[in-house]
Amino acid sequence: MHTDFNDEDGKAAQNAKNCYSMKNLNRLLNENDNLYKKMYQIEKNSRSILAKQAVTAQGKPGSGGGGTTPAPTDNLGVISIPVVVTVVYSNTQENISDAQINSQIAVMNADFRKANSDAANTPTEFAGLVADTEVQFTLAGVRREANSRTSWGTNDEVKAQYPPVTPATTLNIWVCNIGGGILGYAQFPGGPAATDGIVVGPNYFGNTGYVSAPFDKGRTVTHEVGHYLNLRHIWGDGRCQQDDYVADTPSSDGPNYGCPSYPTTNCRSTDMTMNYMDYTNDSCMYMFSEGQKSRLRTVFASSGPRAAMAN
Ligand code: ARG
Ligand code: ZN
Ligand code: CA
Repeated sequence: MHTDFNDEDGKAAQNAKNCYSMKNLNRLLNENDNLYKKMYQIEKNSRSILAKQAVTAQGKPGSGGGGTTPAPTDNLGVISIPVVVTVVYSNTQENISDAQINSQIAVMNADFRKANSDAANTPTEFAGLVADTEVQFTLAGVRREANSRTSWGTNDEVKAQYPPVTPATTLNIWVCNIGGGILGYAQFPGGPAATDGIVVGPNYFGNTGYVSAPFDKGRTVTHEVGHYLNLRHIWGDGRCQQDDYVADTPSSDGPNYGCPSYPTTNCRSTDMTMNYMDYTNDSCMYMFSEGQKSRLRTVFASSGPRAAMAN
């Protein structure tokens, strides 16, 4: 018996009721007594890696003495992750085309490498924080599975039916109708290998073919892969004091929806509404921050939960 992860003020679960990644996480925590400890260790390790990087950057000689501090680095270079897409369909529309699948891979690569053209929309306040995460993706395989079931829910039943392909080294994406208007959900690092990966509805996958506005630009997968790499929602799933464990994303007290005007102010700071880890429309989210980049890359460290993907 334990409380929900990241639920210090008792409001996280309540506030996160829209987010099925958090709901899925809390279910896994209830089913698995060791997971809380495991995720706590991942968090602790992530912080210690980042602290060491900061010290190394500070102590580096030849940076002009008193000049700018070099950006911390993990020396992992560009990380390329193979992706297996499992399309589970109950009608021809859900059996999305190869072109639609390829469009999603292209969006992931653009978004994670800061090659998306809308990154240029970032307001000056945040422009210096837009990150190339140096994580990229290649399509390693597509499985197509016909199944008469028309919706799969968020309890990982689709994964039980079609188990992941080499989850330690491969990002598995199941594309199927979840139901209940749910766009997608992810499993955070540290969870069971048998359910590792993300699930997304066919009409929220990619940016061409069977897609539904305003979630028709492939950003649901960008958001879910953020969770898969241990990013939290930018409001930390709680009130102003609740953190997403990233210093350069300003504190907020809840998600933003639609296409917010700039500036949107909460907790006495401007919300980074254009961040992929908020809840805005696809066309209104277009950046990860440098702090998110540093955090997500710690999962690939030799001591991190996704170390096997960094080679
Ligand atoms: N986990 C969120 C949901 O299922 C996904 C939010 C994605 N946002 C987006 N603009 N595509 O509700
Ligand atoms: Zn989410
Ligand atoms: Ca923050």
